Amino acid sequence: MQTQVAIIGAGPAGLLLGALLHKAGIDNIIIERQTPEYVLGRIRAGILEQVTVDLLRDAGVGSGVDAAGTPHHQIDLVFQNKRYPIMVSELTQGKVVTAYGQTEVTHDLMTHRANLGLTSFYSADEVDLHDIESKTPRVSFSKDGRRQEISCSLIAGCDGFHGVSRKHIPSNILKEFERVYPFGWIGVLADVPPVSPHAIVYANSDRGFALCSMRSMTRSRYYLQCPLSDQVSEWSDERFWDELQLRLDPELSAQLIMGPSIEKSIAPLRSYVAEPMRHGQLFLAGDAAHIVPPTGAKGLNLAATDVKYLSEAMIEFFTAKSSRGIDHYSDRCLKRVWRAERFSWWLTSLMHRFPETGEFGQRIQEAELDYLVHSRALSTSLAENYVGLPLDFGHQ
Ligand code: APR
Ligand code: PHB
Repeated sequence: MQTQVAIIGAGPAGLLLGALLHKAGIDNIIIERQTPEYVLGRIRAGILEQVTVDLLRDAGVGSGVDAAGTPHHQIDLVFQNKRYPIMVSELTQGKVVTAYGQTEVTHDLMTHRANLGLTSFYSADEVDLHDIESKTPRVSFSKDGRRQEISCSLIAGCDGFHGVSRKHIPSNILKEFERVYPFGWIGVLADVPPVSPHAIVYANSDRGFALCSMRSMTRSRYYLQCPLSDQVSEWSDERFWDELQLRLDPELSAQLIMGPSIEKSIAPLRSYVAEPMRHGQLFLAGDAAHIVPPTGAKGLNLAATDVKYLSEAMIEFFTAKSSRGIDHYSDRCLKRVWRAERFSWWLTSLMHRFPETGEFGQRIQEAELDYLVHSRALSTSLAENYVGLPLDFGHQ
């Protein structure tokens, strides 16, 4: 088999890249390890920056988010049992974020690809990359017991943190940066109206962090900071709701509508960056190259901007026969990646209980939160990062 771009991974990054390349007339094949059902079953964050929404529209996949996304003009911060609004739109000349689940984004992209009849191999085992330093790299994999091979000009490694692509960058070239946090998040999805439909709520409590989010007016998503050693089985629905109420302000706590969970899972928090994001004809995008802790919901948005830059660079490569874009891809992405890493790390550090800093750390966080909610300068800094810094930020 032959194609112009072989895309490893059918998460949001791989699917969006495939859609944008196809629109520009560039042939691509996706190779995914899991089944479509498995990919769609993963529950992840659901806050889209305007840049991400625009890109989905650009790719011809905006109708879902346009019909069912909920624009948010505000976020709320809770500390010392009081809730304070941050008027994100007002502080950013009218920008909003849109609540729309990653599961829905993936579903829309998958349907779009299937409708176009583009080639994707799901349940591909033992995916391997060959000759990535040459002009004619290849991808091989096993499907239904048969070994297959794809020749291409470029490879996009969109296979997430545990993927195979990044491992093909030689260890003397790859530099990794990592911070692992000493706690996790337990998340619950429930078919109940969100307690705060117009503002995501971030709560710093001396019992630990809590977050109130949503997927729609009838589906809520809540998270609690928990020890990494906890098992899901230790968290009955009742325990989860009780604990959430204890971490919110009294008003929200009283308004919380509880119901049976339809999904419950514990995830660790990690900051990670791999540099460079290109080696030879291989280009990493999304979680394959970087991970942010979920605080601030930057993961999917960063994946989307990588893909924007990568699609532009690949289109330039094939249509203008120029390597300028692909040569700058890694540097261009990493600037934005590190800005989002900084923001996610900062918001994580501000909102969570850190076992090692004790009550001193808690008081310092509360002082910073107090400063933040009363200072237009600090609120603006939070707001402009939350909605996403402009793509040309720092280029002027
Ligand atoms: N071969 C083929 N596919 C693979 C392999 C492999 N060896 N390893 C992993 N994959 C697939 C995974 O099964 C998954 O479907 O690559 C896909 C990667 O998708 P994601 O993990 O969703 O990563 P990405 O598309 O970069 O999306 C980034 O996901 O984790 C969130 O917060 C993150 O929202 C962000 C988004
Ligand atoms: C979510 O809706 O899953 C979500 C929202 C905001 C965050 C993180 C996750 O900061």
